Amino acid sequence: MSFNNILFEVKNKIGFVTINRTDKLNALNDATVTELKECFTAIKNDEGINVVIITGAGEKAFVAGADISELNKLDESTGKKFSENGQAVFNLIENLGKPVIAAVNGFALGGGCELALSCHIRFANEKAKFGQPEVNLGIIPGYGGTQRLTRLINSGRAAELILTGDLIDANEALRIGIVNKIFSSEELMSKATEFAEKISSKGQIAVRKALLAIVSCDELSESDGLNYEAKLFAEGCGSEDFKEGTTAFLEKRKPNFKNS
Ligand code: COA
Repeated sequence: MSFNNILFEVKNKIGFVTINRTDKLNALNDATVTELKECFTAIKNDEGINVVIITGAGEKAFVAGADISELNKLDESTGKKFSENGQAVFNLIENLGKPVIAAVNGFALGGGCELALSCHIRFANEKAKFGQPEVNLGIIPGYGGTQRLTRLINSGRAAELILTGDLIDANEALRIGIVNKIFSSEELMSKATEFAEKISSKGQIAVRKALLAIVSCDELSESDGLNYEAKLFAEGCGSEDFKEGTTAFLEKRKPNFKNS
């Protein structure tokens, strides 16, 4: 697959997606959002990819937001379509069925913060800055930020960020739970890759079922969520990987998962 605004490659069953509009700090224009949709649809259907890492090209930004030159032209009717279109792509990422790691290597603002929030795990470098500055443009986050940020860090903290438009640094993002870990700029991609490889080395039946259960948490009541967990647990018990994993433990050897 080749694109104009993103780079994509697969190494060792890890998919690497890089937003590549460095002259605009990787801002998400419509063409980039469309390419992200195509890319993640292909990743979803590719059994050769176990884990995805998404990052931004260049030294300065993960993604500095939706492209403001395009935002500027929206009205009430096109604004709704714009928001729904971006939400659909970020929903695709959240519901990919495979883990997606955001390697946040600079500004993650507006749509960039929302992109990171749609991923399952967020690593950042020490230069990363997070924020939902849409209020400064006279609008609100429209790619899921009001929902995902509020669920992730609680309504008081989400309100603080969304209502002021203030940016926070990586340490504050770590403190309030937006970020899982901070690495140096030099180490960010290698540590994210190491982490992805660790997940990729596990039985993918278990990884994917666990992810389904985790992602469902936002949608389901606790009792429905527990029922769903029991269903997925039972399905796992019917897999070859489960027999291999438990037998390997009892035979004191490493499991050889076949993902079946
Ligand atoms: N949309 C479109 N273009 C953007 C952009 C965005 N979200 N963010 C940055 N750019 C462009 C700038 O217009 C500039 O382009 P130019 O060189 O053609 O003028 C280029 O990227 C570099 O940005 P610049 O503002 O010069 O860099 P900086 O280091 O001075 O500031 C930011 C960095 C991130 C603080 C600043 O670019 C910014 O505030 N961006 C908008 C953030 C935002 O509001 N995002 C939410 C949108 S919903």
